[in-house]
Amino acid sequence: YRNLRIALLGAGAVGAQVAALLLEHGDELASRVGAGLELVGVAVRDLDAPRSTEIPRELLTTDARSLILGADIVIELMGGIEPAREYLMLALNSGADVITANKALLATHGPELFEEAEQVGAQLYYEAAVGGAIPIIRPLRDSLAGDRVHRILGIVNGTTNFILDRMDREGDSLEEALAAATELGYAEADPTADIEGFDAAQKAAILASLAFHTTVPLDMVHREGITAITHEQVRSAREAGFVVKLLAVCERVTDPETGVEGVSARVHPALVPQSHPLAAVHGANNAVFLEAEAAGSLMFYGAGAGGIQTASAVLGDVVSAARRHVIGGPGVAESTNADLPILPMSSVVTRY
Ligand code: HSE
Repeated sequence: YRNLRIALLGAGAVGAQVAALLLEHGDELASRVGAGLELVGVAVRDLDAPRSTEIPRELLTTDARSLILGADIVIELMGGIEPAREYLMLALNSGADVITANKALLATHGPELFEEAEQVGAQLYYEAAVGGAIPIIRPLRDSLAGDRVHRILGIVNGTTNFILDRMDREGDSLEEALAAATELGYAEADPTADIEGFDAAQKAAILASLAFHTTVPLDMVHREGITAITHEQVRSAREAGFVVKLLAVCERVTDPETGVEGVSARVHPALVPQSHPLAAVHGANNAVFLEAEAAGSLMFYGAGAGGIQTASAVLGDVVSAARRHVIGGPGVAESTNADLPILPMSSVVTRY
């Protein structure tokens, strides 16, 4: 039974929760993997910064490079382009598998990172980069790989959904609602990324690239945020039977002038009919509504932002990466919870 060495870069809203969950549930996860999972260090900029969970002092370091070079799995949750890009390249080159939630980095330097991973035979996991806790990367990459996706309508930014929902249902101003979203840990360090649609555009680029098996560069994603949306617009939309949502739209399209077939990715406020499932996505939740040729319509729904929720997706990637290290492929077939009792419950009428 060997130990896999895990290095964590960043201890912000998501990173601190990942550290806490790894320390708390490491043994249970290890039993699902067939190897020990040892958090060997957490690289941070400031050893004394306040954090949302207690990380043992001896795990903290400011020397990210040394930490990376001694790890089997590197989790990057620091955000930003540099030095995150450099660290991930270093990790891949040293033979580690890499997990990241860094949508900005993937949307701008994805091809470079994927190419490097392929060359060295490593894997890059990024389930947490889009939709927080919602599993959407693997379904697009694996489950739907045999189908043909026609269109994705996504609510992929929790902060703006929270703000529009508050404007609609509580009569808050944009500023009031944004302050609440920041307080709850949903907003980016610079909330302009949320309200101007940059965050959603990065996610649209990632989703469109996966869905259409191509590379959709970030600068080809049309982007409009929500800063021009007024109470009056939200109210008159409701009276007319619609809800205002910031949507990421990724679809196959035909240029009406040239007849050329291609794909389009864009982010803008949109009117969603109140009867559409996306209209029922409240608060900081996200949803991805997808139409595929054979599967028809599918919807993925859940918490799109928040430290512990997003940590769930990161830990799923940790288990996948660790299993790959142990058996060289995905999945451990055997059940590891053999002692868990199966209770003989009769049919109880329960309200869910
Ligand atoms: N600021 C982002 C959001 C966090 O509000 O959705 C999750 O990517």
